[in-house]
Amino acid sequence: MPEPVSVSNEAIATAAGLLRDGHCVAFPTETVYGLGADATNPDAVAAIYEAKGRPHFNPLIIHVATIEAARKLVQFSETAELLAQFFWPGALTLVLPRKDDCPVCLLAGAGLDSLAVRIPAPETARALLTAAGVPIAAPSANPSGAVSPTTASHVAEGLGEKVAMILDDGPCATGIESTIIDLTGPTPTILRPGGVTAEGIEAVIGKITDATGHSSDDAPRAPGQLSSHYATTIPLRMEVTMPEASEALLAFGPDLPETNGPALNLSPTGDLREAAANLFAMMRALDQSGCSAIAVMPIPDHGLGHAINDRLRRASHR
Ligand code: TXA
Ligand code: MG
Repeated sequence: MPEPVSVSNEAIATAAGLLRDGHCVAFPTETVYGLGADATNPDAVAAIYEAKGRPHFNPLIIHVATIEAARKLVQFSETAELLAQFFWPGALTLVLPRKDDCPVCLLAGAGLDSLAVRIPAPETARALLTAAGVPIAAPSANPSGAVSPTTASHVAEGLGEKVAMILDDGPCATGIESTIIDLTGPTPTILRPGGVTAEGIEAVIGKITDATGHSSDDAPRAPGQLSSHYATTIPLRMEVTMPEASEALLAFGPDLPETNGPALNLSPTGDLREAAANLFAMMRALDQSGCSAIAVMPIPDHGLGHAINDRLRRASHR
């Protein structure tokens, strides 16, 4: 089990180097410890889902050090500017439309056109983000289904060898996750209650909708359903061994069926992490191929394959 490393300038430099090299690093925020990886690197983001053992590819929160860095990723509205000015750095996550040239990989946002961003409060977290120089995707640093960690030793107990390094800056001050507010619709909507209260937000921007039914716990009412999932515009067929002539092929592994249409291979060697890293970009590319449907080859239903099949199934049920 990796020993947590106390925060220092050297420890931050080491952690930033690991992040830039595509490794997962657990780091403290004011809410809970996050399991961070370079959000622009789909392979590194796939490693987050693998380490957590998440059965679904939920979109992740993207962490940045400054509002200028956030503006490179998403389109700010007037409301977003107000909230950012008032609550950042802090426990408020804004869901905003992705910019066209947003460098965050599609896997980190689960293929959606929106992205969740926030600036964490602790200076150490922001120093790490600045040193890393890339936006960092970070869900809570616990195995899927377990409670969020608020100390470095919780992280070590839960994830152990699955993280390259655990930065220790003592217990988290807030202890519950950030409040998530969706600003992509006509009315700002709270998707998850958290460290910043609805009353506090209303004091700044006026009336908001609470999609969580004014609950005070930190879990979404219907996990995976509050945030809509990415769906292709053409139908998608799963477990296909023989694609039809009019179909585009989403392949997996070395043994490919005969096909004349466009084909993309999630992983020619059958590597599930590589497949996860390619999933959303390839779904989008084949969706625009002009074919009648996307035929998907069978993908093993274990490890990351389970999450891959879950997303494909959701995209196929229209
Ligand atoms: O306090 C926190 O927010 C912590 C620390 C590490 O920053 N992070 C955290 O991340 O709680 P996570 O991955 O456990 O929760 C992310 C939540 C998910 O429930 C997801 O549905 C929602 O954010 N989310 C992310 N992107 C979204 C989007 N584009 N639209 C709607 N919901 C989104
Ligand atoms: Mg979590």
